[in-house]
Amino acid sequence: MSEVAVTSPLPGRALERLAERHTLRVRPKGPALSGRDLAVFTGRADALICLLADRVAAEVFTMCPRLAVVANYAVGVNNIDLEAARTSGVWVTNTPDVLTDATADLTWSLILAVARRVVEGDRLVRSGGFAGWKPDLLLGVGLQGKTLGIVGMGRIGRAVARRASGFGMWVCYHSHRDVRSLEGAEAECVPSLDALLARSHVLSLHCPLTAKTRHLLDERRLRLLPRGAIVVNTSRGEVVDEEALARALASGHLGGVGLDVYEREPAVHPGLLGRHDVVLLPHLGSATGEARAAMANLAVDNVLAVLGGKPPLTPVVKPLVPRS
Ligand code: DGY
Repeated sequence: MSEVAVTSPLPGRALERLAERHTLRVRPKGPALSGRDLAVFTGRADALICLLADRVAAEVFTMCPRLAVVANYAVGVNNIDLEAARTSGVWVTNTPDVLTDATADLTWSLILAVARRVVEGDRLVRSGGFAGWKPDLLLGVGLQGKTLGIVGMGRIGRAVARRASGFGMWVCYHSHRDVRSLEGAEAECVPSLDALLARSHVLSLHCPLTAKTRHLLDERRLRLLPRGAIVVNTSRGEVVDEEALARALASGHLGGVGLDVYEREPAVHPGLLGRHDVVLLPHLGSATGEARAAMANLAVDNVLAVLGGKPPLTPVVKPLVPRS
């Protein structure tokens, strides 16, 4: 029997399945762990299942000599020092595919909520301010015939693109990686990010957070968007310069913003909090019961595979020389 450290209880029954074969140490709910604290919690465990807010720094690999796999309970792995994992002989896995549809649906919830002023309407009714139908009450913008720009045409970007035809939108995208199949989405590849921005009435971000994509949407690039454009981010907060975003809204250049993720999560830029044209969600992209249970199952299957001497199902990092 091996020991598995889990930084939080997880939805569904996946951890029960893991407990049938291995000794589990599950941390009760609490603030995210980072660096030394995470290393101390992991201790002599053979596997670690962690959340996207836990910071898996190099010291976790040096201080935890038995650790063979870090299974991130997320598709994004920007919280993990991947190079340190690789050179230390530790597998890193994530949870792709199972959250794609949930995240794409939430992206559309944000696009529609911003374009049609859904949250403002809800507030008006609850505050008793709805005095009856009026020709000009809370007018939004129509999506039909407009262009949806997608940055990052991975699984989630493609799923968002597939849904666009239902709203009569034309999709353009820019991706650093070679996109071999659009998986049923009709979309035009635009050769540069700047050109994509110039055409996007709605811009949706789906790229991973890396050193290259940090502040990808900065002051200069925000200015390239057409006046009145809507920006939606369900990827990682640091992809957007939030200060520049708040300024672009304050100047009237942007028509609205929908965010599920934040540059200094869970903190939100004060320039965004008070605005009626911004819809803010608490990182709910994958938050359906189905997706979160499937993520737990996949994380557990990855751990079971590695502890059973097999390669994991969804590796992100293959170790240089696996720890035995
Ligand atoms: C992820 O998986 O990376 C999402 O941000 C949370 O599900």
